[in-house]
Amino acid sequence: MSSTSDAVTIFDTTLRDGEQSPGISLNTGEKLEIAHQLARLGVDVIEAGFPIASPGDFEAVEAIARQVQGPVICGLARANAADIDRAWEAIRDSERPRIHTFLSTSDIHIEHQLMSTREDVKGLARASVAQAKALCEDVEFSPMDATRADVEFTAEVLQIALDEGATTINVPDTVGYTMPEEYAGFLTKLYEYVPDLRKAVLSVHCHNDLGLAVANSFAGVLAGARQVECAINGIGERAGNAALEEFVMLLHTRGSSVGLHTNVTTTEIARTSRLVSRLTGYAVQPNKAIIGRNAFAHESGIHQDGVLKHRETYEIMDATSIGLDANSLVLGKHSGRAALKQALQDLGYTIDGATLNTAFKKFKEIADKKKQVTAMDLEALVTDELRDE
Ligand code: KIV
Ligand code: ZN
Repeated sequence: MSSTSDAVTIFDTTLRDGEQSPGISLNTGEKLEIAHQLARLGVDVIEAGFPIASPGDFEAVEAIARQVQGPVICGLARANAADIDRAWEAIRDSERPRIHTFLSTSDIHIEHQLMSTREDVKGLARASVAQAKALCEDVEFSPMDATRADVEFTAEVLQIALDEGATTINVPDTVGYTMPEEYAGFLTKLYEYVPDLRKAVLSVHCHNDLGLAVANSFAGVLAGARQVECAINGIGERAGNAALEEFVMLLHTRGSSVGLHTNVTTTEIARTSRLVSRLTGYAVQPNKAIIGRNAFAHESGIHQDGVLKHRETYEIMDATSIGLDANSLVLGKHSGRAALKQALQDLGYTIDGATLNTAFKKFKEIADKKKQVTAMDLEALVTDELRDE
């Protein structure tokens, strides 16, 4: 493990792989709004879409390329001439354009989807990267379904892509099949078999079918990758992509122990997550890491008491670091006296001793009947209590 600090490039694919989630369809205005927010968030690369997929997608990628400054703007293309030309047409006005072309290297894809052969795949990889390179200096190549492919064959294809000028090599775990150690081992073998790989940026693109997308991405960077492809709120095909906010906060919280960081402005995370959730119509589950509404909420008495005494007793991150105002103490049947006293104090009632004891007893009776005790319940409880005194 390296002890020197190293930046990991954040490649955001919310607008491409993320938009491939069933039921999500963003128009150009919505895509632009998200892209501007991604630029404020400080991602390094925005994969804006798949220009050949539809006229609407082309228009959105072109608008983002023309209007969003800062990040590299990337368009996706299959390994064929029409896709690559269309992607270039859409991104050519960006200050920093990138063409991302991909082609499967697993036999299951080659035989059953491409209905082709390994030899043809090598030829297509050569021709498509050469074509993209003639148009654009910045070219990314992905061997799709790499983690189920033969590593030696994938290495051969990657060497061809590098010979033709690919600047980033992305190794997708397309179906979310790999495991952290296995993925790291696969990337280590690629470094061994493809000597020129060290001249390019190695990238990871992990799907979440087994819930391992962030863990696999992290294993990838420990093995030497310096670009992580991810999406806001973890949206994407099937179970989604690695969640950007999880990977970024993992490095923000623990990255110094491995000498790694990102350039993301973490205080923009909550705002970006809310925007993507609103425009895609995909709700965020309450217990979702980092951005779920419970991620900085405490319900049990022991935890609330601890957090009131010292935040770090039960928090490894500060809510303000992702752009929230503060953590929250949720009042329910597991809550204790300290949290009740604090909540009443926040409402302007300072009570102690016997009054607090009786209020606490009544509070528990209410909490047993309701999932959550609200400020209104507390107001009613305390005014009754003070009136009876
Ligand atoms: O999952 C995948 O393999 C992809 C490629 C297009 C990179 O999304
Ligand atoms: Zn993908």
